[in-house]
Amino acid sequence: MENEASAIALEARELIKIYRMGAVEVHALRGVDVDFRESELIVLLGPSGSGKSTLLNILGGLDTPTSGTVRFRGQALTMDSERALNLYRRNHVGFVFQFGALDSKTGILVLEAILKINRELGTTTALITHNAVIADIANRVLYFADGRIVETRQNAVQRAPGELAW
Ligand SMILES: Nc1ncnc2c1ncn2[C@@H]1O[C@H](COP(=O)(O)OP(=O)(O)OP(=O)(O)O)[C@@H](O)[C@H]1O
Ligand SMILES: [Mg+2]
Repeated sequence: MENEASAIALEARELIKIYRMGAVEVHALRGVDVDFRESELIVLLGPSGSGKSTLLNILGGLDTPTSGTVRFRGQALTMDSERALNLYRRNHVGFVFQFGALDSKTGILVLEAILKINRELGTTTALITHNAVIADIANRVLYFADGRIVETRQNAVQRAPGELAW
């Protein structure tokens, strides 16, 4: 049904990530609860060091949390099994790492390609950026600060990449 929310693809609960470097502890995630729905396009915004990459690395099975859980389509990710995480990544996850700063024309092309995959294949898509205008292409925007999601915004309409004032 058109207005019915799609099923939850990823469910993170009470995620905490502490990096320990000798005597120094870095609290990268301080308790993150978030759901990503099937086919949803989510944009993550927030200052450098606020935990965006840490969250996506954990949701994508590239890193493990200090505590907390991640469920993919209802099933808990087995964080203590490298083999299980490897299979999860191989079967269900794709990462695209950007090659430096893009000019607006190339940036829009990249966003259009991401959007096409999101729409045509129905992939759940999470995009990290420092360019706040890109948030307008999302279904939902998550704002990070100091290892927490401090605000979320649901977009009533999604703007096309070509309409963004870069
Ligand atoms: N492998 C690591 N070892 C130690 N500290 C780390 C590691 N990865 C991230 N951190 C620290 O964790 C915190 C969160 O980092 P993270 O990379 O998630 O931030 P971010 O929001 O993605 O920042 P950016 O916008 O710069 O990419 C930062 O203080 C960072 O220095
Ligand atoms: Mg990052």
